[in-house]
Amino acid sequence: MEGAALTRRGLLVGIGAVGGAGAMYAAMGALGLAPSRQETRFAPPQPSDFSLRGKAAAKVVIVGAGVAGLTVAYELGKAGYDCTLLEAGTRAGGRNLTLRGGDRLVEADGPAQDVRFGEGVYFNAGPGRIAPWMVTMDYCRELGIPIETFVNNNAQAYVHTNGQTVRARTARADLYGYVAELLAKATNTGALNRKLTKDDQERLLEFLRRFGDLGPKLDYEGSTRRGFTKYPALDTGTPIASPGSLHEVLAAATGRAITNDFGYDQATPMFQPVGGMDAIVTKLVEAVGRDRITTGAKVTKITNLPDGVEVTWDGGQIKADYCVATLPPHLMARIPHNLGESVTAALKTPVPVASGKIGLEYGRRWWELEDRIYGGVTETDLDITHIWYPSHGYHSERGVLVGYYNTEQNAELYGALTPEDRRRRALTQGRKIHGDRYGKGLLSSVSIAWERQEHIQGGWVRWPAFDSSFTLLQRPSGRVYFAGDWLTHLIAWQAGALESARSAVTQLHQRVLQNP
Ligand code: ALA
Repeated sequence: MEGAALTRRGLLVGIGAVGGAGAMYAAMGALGLAPSRQETRFAPPQPSDFSLRGKAAAKVVIVGAGVAGLTVAYELGKAGYDCTLLEAGTRAGGRNLTLRGGDRLVEADGPAQDVRFGEGVYFNAGPGRIAPWMVTMDYCRELGIPIETFVNNNAQAYVHTNGQTVRARTARADLYGYVAELLAKATNTGALNRKLTKDDQERLLEFLRRFGDLGPKLDYEGSTRRGFTKYPALDTGTPIASPGSLHEVLAAATGRAITNDFGYDQATPMFQPVGGMDAIVTKLVEAVGRDRITTGAKVTKITNLPDGVEVTWDGGQIKADYCVATLPPHLMARIPHNLGESVTAALKTPVPVASGKIGLEYGRRWWELEDRIYGGVTETDLDITHIWYPSHGYHSERGVLVGYYNTEQNAELYGALTPEDRRRRALTQGRKIHGDRYGKGLLSSVSIAWERQEHIQGGWVRWPAFDSSFTLLQRPSGRVYFAGDWLTHLIAWQAGALESARSAVTQLHQRVLQNP
């Protein structure tokens, strides 16, 4: 034992003499000797926990302190790295933004908005929901962030299409009912004989009767699934009057609205952190160390060197062993660098997508009291696209509705307006669904146009094709790594940022361990 320790010490002294303290520290890390915060706060890893194996001590500068940048620093920090984050904005978190009373939202070429929400009220201006299979859930667990259900599908919410408003349950019952009727009758008249055996036909009919709540003659004649004007209690209640004709139901064009949550990323149940999405940012910042983040640092140059990276910002310059750039690609493309033309061309390939939201604070939760809507989303074909009802704080006094959440042209339309005009327009549209009460009792509002956030300039990006540009940037360019949701197939999800951060740090760490 003694001999082994002496040999190791001798080796480290030698490395220190030749390579300096950094190299010695790295070697100590590789031998498992370097102290780190992880060792003092060790928690046994759980199956879904990600952890880099082996310690290292390289210096890494991270450009951008959004979810990707913070995660890079968090994971590298656990493995012994010395990370510095440069953030152009005034706060960490990037698009993970929760607004509360007292906050101020500044937009490029627009008036600042002071958030006047009351105590305990918040508005997730960026991400608002998490699917259970997403790695975001693992970070919530690991960071000790309590979560609660986010109601994404609510039968009691509305569908507003072609000027008509019905409850989601009604729209679904009618469309499922008529589709089931058509298919059942086609089956019964032998139109599917070549596709289906007699047994298959029986099984299909059995399912379609249930799917559409069909009558004995396979007709859809309405169903209690449509809802009631007076719900059953001591008597059987009063169901909503019969559905319109098949023609009318198809003309209502509710198809998109009632299939919105069919996808693997929107299916119920979904989740949200208790108290606001920015709990993820708060906990990551705490774990990384606030002193590692320099805000208001706008990077102006990234130079890849044979033995490191030099990053220049408007307040100084830093040299590190590696850099992880987590800016949106369209912004990164504008920063002078020596990584080559193909990198610039690749960074310019994804197209920024506009996205906006408005938070409308009411002094009375009329949607709960009168519409009996507790959480969920009203889908519309209006330019507001969606209305979200809060999935928390039920029966409390105040509440914030998301009065619009839109993208692309609709977002650009609202984003170009002043905050007052956005609110006016959102209220005009919302009244088409909720009537006059939509404008009454409004206490305050705040709206965001992500394309007008100076250091972000978009809700997310769209790749025209996931081509060689996409794969090029998933790999390092010299000593510069890229990370962000835009480098995954989980664009517009924090899970994308987290997965991409994990990929970048894994690649970086393997390299450091191989070349200490
Ligand atoms: N992830 C974004 C959403 O859930 C697109 O709306």
